[in-house]
Amino acid sequence: MRWIIATTFTTGPRCTRWKSGIGSSIRSKPRNFAIFPTTTLVEVENTHNRAGGVVVPQADVLRICTVARELGLATFLDGARLWNASAASGLPVSELAAPFDMVAVAFSKGLGAPGGSLLAGSKASIAAAVRHRQRLGGAMRQNGIFAAAALHALDHHLERLPEDHANARVFAGALAAGATVVLDLATVQTNIVVFHLPATLAIDAPTLSAQARARGVLVNAFGPRTVRAVTHLDVTRAQCERAASVLVDLLTT
Ligand SMILES: Cc1ncc(COP(=O)(O)O)c(C=O)c1O
Repeated sequence: MRWIIATTFTTGPRCTRWKSGIGSSIRSKPRNFAIFPTTTLVEVENTHNRAGGVVVPQADVLRICTVARELGLATFLDGARLWNASAASGLPVSELAAPFDMVAVAFSKGLGAPGGSLLAGSKASIAAAVRHRQRLGGAMRQNGIFAAAALHALDHHLERLPEDHANARVFAGALAAGATVVLDLATVQTNIVVFHLPATLAIDAPTLSAQARARGVLVNAFGPRTVRAVTHLDVTRAQCERAASVLVDLLTT
């Protein structure tokens, strides 16, 4: 998508510091210079993956969308993990999605389907999206298979999301108690645990990830010293406890 240029706005580790960032990220009149592309869209990701799966406070979502609308910008909700946000906040997905012009959700994340995402918006924007999908080679005739899996996930996997969230808290608590990682437990609101390896630890994230994999624990290096772990319907509480103890072992020996 070479014609799209993204600028990010800072939300802070718990997605609460967006106000300082959004103004300077928007490039629109009268601040616009000829060399900059003009901002047309503001996107919010909820839950926010890199921030550790935190739920963006809905009051902030409302303010961001109001600012965007006042500036004549469209709004998009990347809700790849919107059901996790709903389970953690207690707010229905309809309420989380309502302030946005367009919303995407994914069935392959917390809901555990093998693939499939869904886009919701006005008739005109969905028609435009279908055209763009066609142009980019994304059309597929056999996607009823994915739709069936998505329906199964909606019927059977929604209600168990709080289990994943509880497992993530158990994992994070054991890890933070046993090793000197930098881990803000307040960010563990859903099924993602992001932690950092301080310079005092000799090991870096790719090495930790490789050593954990060799012991049957899959975590990914999110950066040179940043690690992400995700809980989901295929891992049990006992496996999360074991994963934490394997990581503590690797980080303390
Ligand atoms: C936050 C977020 N948004 C969007 C996507 C894309 O989802 P899909 O490939 O199902 O469209 C992902 C996939 O990993 C994601 O993590």
